[in-house]
Amino acid sequence: MKVDVLLGLQWGDEGKGKIVDVLAPRYDVVARFQGGPNAGHTLEFDGIKHVLHQIPSGIFRPKTKNIIGNGVVLDPIVFKSEIEKLSKFNLDVKSNLFISKKATLIVPTHRLLDEAYELAKGENKIGSTLKGIGPSYQDKIGRQGLRCGDILSSTFTEKFKKLTQAHFDILNKYPISYDWNELEKRFMDSIAFLKGFNLVDSEYFINHEIKKGSTILAEGAQGSLLDIDFGSYPFVTSSNTVTAGACTGLGVAPRHIGEVYGIFKAYSTRVGSGPFPTELLDEDGERLRKAGNEFGSTTGRPRRCGWIDLPSLKYSIMINGVTQLLMMKADVLNIFREIKVCTHYTLSNGKTSEELPYELVNEKITPVYTSLKGWEVPLTNISENQMPSELAYYISFLEKELLVPITLISTGPDRIQTVYRAK
Ligand code: GDP
Ligand code: IMO
Ligand code: MG
Repeated sequence: MKVDVLLGLQWGDEGKGKIVDVLAPRYDVVARFQGGPNAGHTLEFDGIKHVLHQIPSGIFRPKTKNIIGNGVVLDPIVFKSEIEKLSKFNLDVKSNLFISKKATLIVPTHRLLDEAYELAKGENKIGSTLKGIGPSYQDKIGRQGLRCGDILSSTFTEKFKKLTQAHFDILNKYPISYDWNELEKRFMDSIAFLKGFNLVDSEYFINHEIKKGSTILAEGAQGSLLDIDFGSYPFVTSSNTVTAGACTGLGVAPRHIGEVYGIFKAYSTRVGSGPFPTELLDEDGERLRKAGNEFGSTTGRPRRCGWIDLPSLKYSIMINGVTQLLMMKADVLNIFREIKVCTHYTLSNGKTSEELPYELVNEKITPVYTSLKGWEVPLTNISENQMPSELAYYISFLEKELLVPITLISTGPDRIQTVYRAK
């Protein structure tokens, strides 16, 4: 069987956690391929809300195997607390979770370095989640990182001391305070805890599943506009969040990729710094934030809100080879009599463009909008044929522009608030 990929087309927080959980019963395997504890994936069912950071969102489905792939940066301290939070739900996590030996380890000094680098950037800070993502990927690419498989070696403590010493030499230049004894103790406790889980050669594991004919869903973190190559650099995360990242982050050959599900919100949000052409700094932005409860799942920070941005969605669809679109949070737009859709940009040279310019940070990008009529009725528990005509028109307008079918509409945070549409 092919490996389907599900990923965010905007700046993250599109609702990936909810949809992976909804789709998981159709899959034998769910595999996270990049990112780490910067992600916050929310799932809601039976009146309970769960936020997962590193554990794949298939974990609540008892028949689904979950893989943390080699492309992930794993913080064992966060991992331990995530597992402990799940303990009251009677899940067989020890049997259903498999961690790549090649996943990079986040050590406590990575988080301190994140803080130091952000501090040094001052006003130009990225707005990082400060979970140690950039510094741990830096060490991976710099060929000095530690990997999960290393914890099984008798020389692990020695390697850890060598790496953290290199970090201290940098940290000494910054005004960062910390209690190293405490951090080191928590880290070593969490390493002992991690040893109790299945550490596997996940590239063999997943290719064996492909050969067996298992159904596999690759779960992305962040969003395409935060991709290290294609996002709004330097205001991005440090991994490839796009479809190609599923190949390198899991050891899956490109010819094994099947459906690519691209998730987007019916409007736009962004948390952290960086360009956001359709951002609403007025009362409408505030109304969106309130109606959509747009506060970060990982850091609690208010998310910046704005109208949907078709040039950037078209860009993400192109880079990812999206085959199906899933539209989230349609219910949130209920509050508007008029809904705006950005179809083009006007650039500082006066030209109109449907493409994202290279210079996103210093270029003045003015969105060109088309206004559509809002539906102004609650969407809770509707089915496809009960959709208000204005919503049906909004969907068909987007499909005509984006040239990819929208096969799912989400109308609330719960599993059941999901409307399927035929392709
Ligand atoms: P992820 O990072 O892509 O998994 O998304 P997050 O979990 O960070 O953010 C999405 C937020 O929207 C969460 O609080 C979800 O519970 C919520 N959510 C998901 N789908 C819908 C929806 O269709 N309507 C509403 N109102 N909320 C939703
Ligand atoms: P999920 O998977 C939204 C943003 C941060 C910051 C930038 C870099 O929940 O969609 P990092 O911590 O990676 O150094 O931060 O990326 N960011 C996210 N924004 N959702 C996420 O993940 C994010 N992960 C990182 O806010 O602007
Ligand atoms: Mg999130």
